[in-house]
Amino acid sequence: MTSRPRLLLTGRPPDDVHATLERTFRTVDLQDDAALQREAAQIEAVAVFAKRPVDEALMARLPQLRIIANFGVGYDVVDAHAAAKRGVVVTNTPNVLDDEVADTAVGLLIATVREFGAAERHLRAGRWASEGPFRLTSSLRGRTIGLVGMGRIGQAIARRLEGFALPVVYHSRRPNPAVAYPHHRDLTAMAAEVDTLIVIVPGGAATRNLVDAGVLAALGRDGVVINMARGTVIDEEALVAALRDGVIRAAGLDVYAHEPQVPAELIALENAVLLPHVGSASVATRRAMADLVVANLEAYAAGEPPLSPVEE
Ligand code: DGY
Repeated sequence: MTSRPRLLLTGRPPDDVHATLERTFRTVDLQDDAALQREAAQIEAVAVFAKRPVDEALMARLPQLRIIANFGVGYDVVDAHAAAKRGVVVTNTPNVLDDEVADTAVGLLIATVREFGAAERHLRAGRWASEGPFRLTSSLRGRTIGLVGMGRIGQAIARRLEGFALPVVYHSRRPNPAVAYPHHRDLTAMAAEVDTLIVIVPGGAATRNLVDAGVLAALGRDGVVINMARGTVIDEEALVAALRDGVIRAAGLDVYAHEPQVPAELIALENAVLLPHVGSASVATRRAMADLVVANLEAYAAGEPPLSPVEE
């Protein structure tokens, strides 16, 4: 009887997913130093269920490593370049979460422009009855949307915004031939032409602080920024200053540079709508993501090609 291949878990998957994985693999918990020490030489696969980095140093401890399966479409916690150099396949969970994240982006956009959070706080504090109606807000009407990134989720957001009759343009390093929206190579120039940015570009070194003080200034006083990507894509200090000083109107954020830490300055700002990274966090979508992680790992164990490898 051959023994099950070893699978390192960097976080705790749901119990039933864990049980499914255990049928094919013998799992090792990254937190369990002794087990990792004992099993490292035999570990062939890593399942990424936590923010903890899977970097070159960890990979160097795993000479038999062949596959890293990331729970999430964004795989910035994995050093994919180092993995490629070692011939290790990295997989992620594309497609299954596009609609959920796009729905959340549009919901967050409306909540931010129409100030739903502050309006609800007004009601809950009894101020509607004591002081009168909540203030009048900005509107979606007349806005022009600049998408930062036009991958699958960006396209799903753009399709939804067509239903709101909002013009869409986008910035990315290269134009996406699959879409007809106007492309801007220069992000600052695009920000000067629009009043609303929705950030949905991959995280990582290539996009760190892509949205900086200059981009925010170009967006202008009515500007609204929505971030569904990674916190590191926006210069968080510059964003706090822009919100505080009225350089832009408001921000709706689902992601932060040092999650789950959220800067106290952001929390204190009335013109920031803050979600705890829930873009894909419905029961159905998280289930589909977990199923894809399992399917990639089982394909590996069966000697078949992975279902959703990333390109590096
Ligand atoms: C992703 O898939 O990268 C999302 O951010 C997870 O919610």
